[in-house]
Amino acid sequence: MKGIVLAGGTGSRLWPITKVVSKQLLPVYDKPMIYYPVSTLMLAGVREILIITTPHDQESFIELLGDGSQFGIELSYAVQPKPEGLAQAFIIGEKFLDGKSCMMILGDNIFHGAGLGHDLINSIPKSGAHIFTYEVSNPSDYGILKLDSKGLPESITEKPKSFISNLAVTGLYAFDSKVSEIAKGVEPSDRGEYEITSVINSYLISNTLTYTALSRGTAWLDTGNPQSLNDAADYIRIIEERTGLKIGCLEEIAFRNSWINANQLSVNAANLGKNSYSSYLLSLLS
Ligand code: DAU
Repeated sequence: MKGIVLAGGTGSRLWPITKVVSKQLLPVYDKPMIYYPVSTLMLAGVREILIITTPHDQESFIELLGDGSQFGIELSYAVQPKPEGLAQAFIIGEKFLDGKSCMMILGDNIFHGAGLGHDLINSIPKSGAHIFTYEVSNPSDYGILKLDSKGLPESITEKPKSFISNLAVTGLYAFDSKVSEIAKGVEPSDRGEYEITSVINSYLISNTLTYTALSRGTAWLDTGNPQSLNDAADYIRIIEERTGLKIGCLEEIAFRNSWINANQLSVNAANLGKNSYSSYLLSLLS
């Protein structure tokens, strides 16, 4: 399975912070935001990843993450000229996907929980589309899944004005090889965007949509506005300080998966200079 991180957009809800820098490069406590979605894909065993950014920010992402070999993964890059909707990712990424199934994650989505990677690997079916839902108190801010009386997906509505259900569709999705073709058939919505909800609905209509309700033990954090960005940083800091373990540390995941060896880990630490992040990497060697 290949992976896509969609990390474009204007980040306008965070202006002026994101006026000249991509939202997904902002720090969430001790690392750039993009580390977290990349780490989620790595935990799910995905090693070939396409990072889609704005044309303006692409260079910074390449400078930060390079070709991914230092994390034992293969990174490629593509641009989305204008933020015209999440479904465009599958058209931009068509060549990269090369007919393979994929896992896509939004660059501003942070997931954390015990056994998350294992749960992701085990929940994704071989064909169709799979979404991950999370109970929220503010459903009008998200794509929302409604279930029928048998507990099967009945409809998905993007940012419903009145209450449908509290099951938000998180920004993590798995699609089979048909996704790019389906995305090409999507029409812009009333707000002028190629909605991912339209892609998911097309799978729903053909009865090939499945879902996993993420458990209460999993955290799904929002970084959409200044307060939620700050809350996410506090969450990461509190858990990391309490446990002494880092969340979303790409080098650690690669090392524990045996995708890089001890030598590469110490090279990564040396390249970062002397700071608490590199000390943490070195501590993994002992
Ligand atoms: O976070 C989960 C939600 O993400 C889902 O519940 C919704 O169904 C989905 O539409 C999306 O809603 P948002 O309102 O959060 O989408 P937003 O426009 O903020 O974009 C999410 C991320 O994707 C953000 O990091 C910017 C990036 N993006 C967005 C658009 C529209 C792009 O890279 N390109 C785009 O064209």
